[in-house]
Order: sequence, then C-alpha cells, then structure tokens
Amino acid sequence: MPSKNLLYTNCWEDADLLLKALNPGKNDWILSIGSAGDNSFSLLSRSPEQVIVYDIWLPQLHLIELKKAAFNYLEYADFLHFLGFNGSENRLNIYRDKIGPKLSSTAKSYWDKNESLIQKGVIHCGKLEQYFSLFRRFVLPFIASKKTVEHFFKGPPSETDLACYRRKLANPVFHWLLKIFLSEPVLKATGRHPSFFKETKISLSKYLFEKFSAFILHPGSYQNHYMYYTAHGNFGMGLPHYARAENFEAIRSNLDRLVLRHGRLEDGLVAEQNTTLINASDIFEYMPLADFKAFGERLAVYCPRLRHIAYWNFVVDRLLSEVQAQHFKPEMELTSNLSALDKIFFYKRFMLETLATKVNHKCSKSMK
Ligand SMILES: C[S@@+](CC[C@H](N)C(=O)[O-])C[C@H]1O[C@@H](n2cnc3c(N)ncnc32)[C@H](O)[C@@H]1O
Repeated sequence: MPSKNLLYTNCWEDADLLLKALNPGKNDWILSIGSAGDNSFSLLSRSPEQVIVYDIWLPQLHLIELKKAAFNYLEYADFLHFLGFNGSENRLNIYRDKIGPKLSSTAKSYWDKNESLIQKGVIHCGKLEQYFSLFRRFVLPFIASKKTVEHFFKGPPSETDLACYRRKLANPVFHWLLKIFLSEPVLKATGRHPSFFKETKISLSKYLFEKFSAFILHPGSYQNHYMYYTAHGNFGMGLPHYARAENFEAIRSNLDRLVLRHGRLEDGLVAEQNTTLINASDIFEYMPLADFKAFGERLAVYCPRLRHIAYWNFVVDRLLSEVQAQHFKPEMELTSNLSALDKIFFYKRFMLETLATKVNHKCSKSMK
C-alpha cells in the first residue's frame, strides 16, 4: 500500500446493508477486512462467536485498536468526541490519560508519533477523507453553493429542485474539473494503490459522473449520512451504524471477541476453518483474475462451514459465482434488493454469495 499514512478512517461501505445481507448471529465466526474497523464493530454488535479482522496495512490495524480502546475505556459522549464526530477540545488529554496506556506497544508508538491526527479527530485523517475534503473545497463549489447543499439535504426534492440539479450537473466546468479530479495521477497522489489501475478498464470519470448524477437525482438521497459527510466534512444528520448510541453497549460488551490479524485475507484462510461468514470489502478489485479464482478455490477448500461471503465491486467485475461456478451461488434476489439500498453510490454492485459445494481439501492438489 502507498504510504505510511492511513488510507481510510471511516469504512466507505454501507454497514446497514452488510448487516442485512450477512445477518450474523450468535454461532457465527466472521472474517472481516479491517479498513477503518467500523463495519467489523457493527458485525460485533450481533454477538457472534468471533470477528477476525484482517488487513495488510498496519496503520489501519492501529486505527482499529484505537477505536476499540475508545469503546472500552470511554463513555459514549467522550467516545464520539474523541474520534472526531463532534467538538474539538481535549482529545489529546483523553488520549494520554485513558487510551494510550491501554494500547499495544506498536499501536501506542504509532499514535504517540501521530498525536496531531488525534487532535484533529481521527475519523477525518485518512487519505480518502482528505480527498473528499479537496472535492468539497475545489469541485463542489462549482456546482453548488453552501445554500444549495443545505437545501439538498433538507429534502425531499421537488420537481423544480430536480430540474435545477439537472442543469447544474450539465455545467461543462464541473465536467472538466471532475475529469481532472478523477484522473489517474490525482488518484494515485491521493492514495489509490497502483494495482487498482492495472485492473480498471473503463473511464473512471465517466463512470463516477454517471453514478454521482444518479445519486443527486434520486429522491431519497437527501437522507444519506455518508454523502452528508462528503459534502460537510462530518456526520451531522446521522451516524454510521457502529457509532450510534443504540449499538454502543452491544459492541462494547463483545470487544473480547474481536481479533486483529496483520496479513492478506487469502493467506489467512488456511487457519480460519471455523469461518461461517465473510465481509471481504472490495479487496477483489485489486486482485488479478487468476488470484481471485484461486481465492475462491481456497475458500471452498479451507472454510467448509462458510455460509455467505459479502463483497463489493467498485469498477472491476469480480464474481465468485462466475469464476468458481461449481462452488458459489449468488443470492440474486436479495443482492439486487440490497444493492438498490446501498447508501454509497459509487459501487458497481454489492454481492452476497453462498458456498454451495464444499471441497475435501485432501482431494485438492492445487492448494498449498
Ligand atoms: C480494499 S480497501 C477498500 C476500502 C473502500 N471500499 C474503498 O475503496 O474506498 C479496505 C482495506 O483492505 C485492505 N486490504 C486490501 N487487500 C487486502 C487483502 N488481500 N487482505 C487483507 N486486507 C486487504 C486495505 O489495506 C484497506 O485497509
């Protein structure tokens, strides 16, 4: 991954959707991609046996450890404040007195060196969050004044509003800016991993413009708390699932079931034979097709208890039920119903697939 910095300090994958799809229960043993940790905490709220978090990028695991300590040692109001959901004062004192001393030595040393991020509010410090901030400052003003943005999120839109949004979307200056903003050099400079571009075969700016337009013109979009963040720089109108008051105690009481592992999910599968559910984020986006196929085979071989795997495709098509049709079946109806509810507009699709055929790993020669 590209630098020493944090890539994401929020999960930009809809947690409510993930929970509806995987529907985890008390007997589940879940593997989950780390990222900013939010969706793994959400899965924990259902009291499964274990949530085992994998990430290849160590700073993401330090972030998750920091959030875990905030759940454990702070009351709810301080938890929100410490992470950056509101207020701005006193975060460093909270870190030094209550959180830092509870961290592992590696996480503590990382955060001791990065106290400035804690002061700022860690949920605003990922490369993607900084990219959103650039969008807010340099692109958004060309199509919408602050007043228009406020009006948009008050919703629901009238026919006149929608006609006005259509006109603004057609502004050529906006198109031009978006093209620059979504160009490969800018995306690389702001944190996209180079392997992403190897697998991407389409024009990203065209694709995202279409997705963005559909989002703006959808009559329910004004209620979208993730997009509220991108337009305002914080969650004002609704919190992500893991940070909602009603989920705080459930997550806190299950923190001992959260395990953090540094490494590739695909390498960990051999050791994770109890797995019943997987949240794979959109990691397949970055995988060459042959590696993706091998991933599906490994899953079928080493995780015989697996029921469902959930994942997103951003722009690259990666479907287990296509490359490993003998093992995986898509949950078509549920998936298409849920995709329609996805609050993050930029994904191509959300997938939920079922392991239909297990493989006896003594019979599989290809696996090592
Ligand atoms: C795949 S990224 C996606 C985040 C978000 N969907 C986006 O694109 O903006 C989420 C996390 O996955 C981690 N990651 C990527 N490939 C991985 C793999 N094969 N195994 C474990 N973690 C991986 C990254 O380090 C990152 O923290």
